[in-house]
Amino acid sequence: MTQRLLIKNASQIVTPKGNSAVRGADMKDVAIYENQSILIEDGTIVAIGDNPAWEKEIPTERQVDAKGKTVLPGFVDSHTHFVFGGYRADEFLWRMEGMSYMDIMERGGGIANTMKATREASEDELITHSLDFLKKMLAFGITTVEGKSGYGMDYDTELKQLRVMKRLEELQPVSIVRTFLGAHAVPPSYKDRNDEFIDFLIRDVMPTVAKEKLAEFCDVFCEKGVFSIEESRKLLTAAREQGFKLKIHADEIVTFGGSELAGELKCTSADHLLHASEAGIKALADNGVVATLLPTTAFCLKEPYAAARKMIDSGCAVALATDFNPGSGFTNSVPLMIALAVIYMGMTAEEAITALTLNGAAAVDRADRIGSVEVGKQADLVILQYPSYKFLPYHTGVNIVETVIKNGEIVHR
Ligand code: NIG
Ligand code: FE
Repeated sequence: MTQRLLIKNASQIVTPKGNSAVRGADMKDVAIYENQSILIEDGTIVAIGDNPAWEKEIPTERQVDAKGKTVLPGFVDSHTHFVFGGYRADEFLWRMEGMSYMDIMERGGGIANTMKATREASEDELITHSLDFLKKMLAFGITTVEGKSGYGMDYDTELKQLRVMKRLEELQPVSIVRTFLGAHAVPPSYKDRNDEFIDFLIRDVMPTVAKEKLAEFCDVFCEKGVFSIEESRKLLTAAREQGFKLKIHADEIVTFGGSELAGELKCTSADHLLHASEAGIKALADNGVVATLLPTTAFCLKEPYAAARKMIDSGCAVALATDFNPGSGFTNSVPLMIALAVIYMGMTAEEAITALTLNGAAAVDRADRIGSVEVGKQADLVILQYPSYKFLPYHTGVNIVETVIKNGEIVHR
């Protein structure tokens, strides 16, 4: 029997439109429907309108009254590192006292610190730890999250992180897109032997990840003092040959050329971009690479924000994501991210919505299925407590998500 759900009389339904990333000036052109309803059948949006017959046909327990409320597409957090062992609260406070992220990393802290704890954690421990984070994400309206490996940097632990994400998909409602980030740092056992480590990943780890379909994307931390442009190019090129789609951590700490490399390789997304050059921004726009910006990381690192306004004005498709991780930004607060994007990065509320929905979906290659409220799309929806999307930045830093619908079912309220 067809399972139906009716979201009725929403004060506003606000959504970007289409099946691909929205670029440049088009990012602000969201559709706004007033006092309309959404009809869902078997997890798919089948109609948007105000047909009075729907209320009569559908049992009341399958109706959600959205009067006075705003409906948006479910949020897509397209860049996180949410599966990890241990915490790094001390490092956060050291940074506040003036130590830099790279100072801490060079002294054996940072990613290497989380690597030890993640290697030691069992699969079940990682599952329990991650379930708590996923529950918090859902409450913020995140219906799809990307998660990366990269805290193992050895064969067993990289696979363990990816398998944990695969198991987590069965245990809770948030969809998880898996990314292999073996090249997150050079582990101590390969110190000063970057080449050999890259070869190890390509030869010994990637084929298993590909064969067992444990990840859809491959990513690399392309940064001064981590992986060079040449090393990143070699890894990503091999990854594409083995069937992965590509992502890159680019120009996060210094201007390094990662954005240009993303353009050259036509990566699906280039992420961070705090220090992307003019040529780098152009390379992203020209090659249709989604520019994924992570404002809470810049905030927690006390770094300047990425040039969102300039990127949009240059024709880029910008996505917003949390980068949730135990080091550079231990926060998955969507309201904080929206506040930073609108208050400090010059994004409009409409652009922020597009960035967090359809462009986030494009950054994980799902824009044909999710990211907008349109007939034919999967019914992943967020209902806000207030009658206008403008409350998202206006009720600054406060979570106003009231109800979350995943695949046509209420999963949080
Ligand atoms: O995106 N830059 C590299 N990776 C993460 C941080 C990971 C960590 O510090 O544990 C990031 O900021
Ligand atoms: Fe990251």
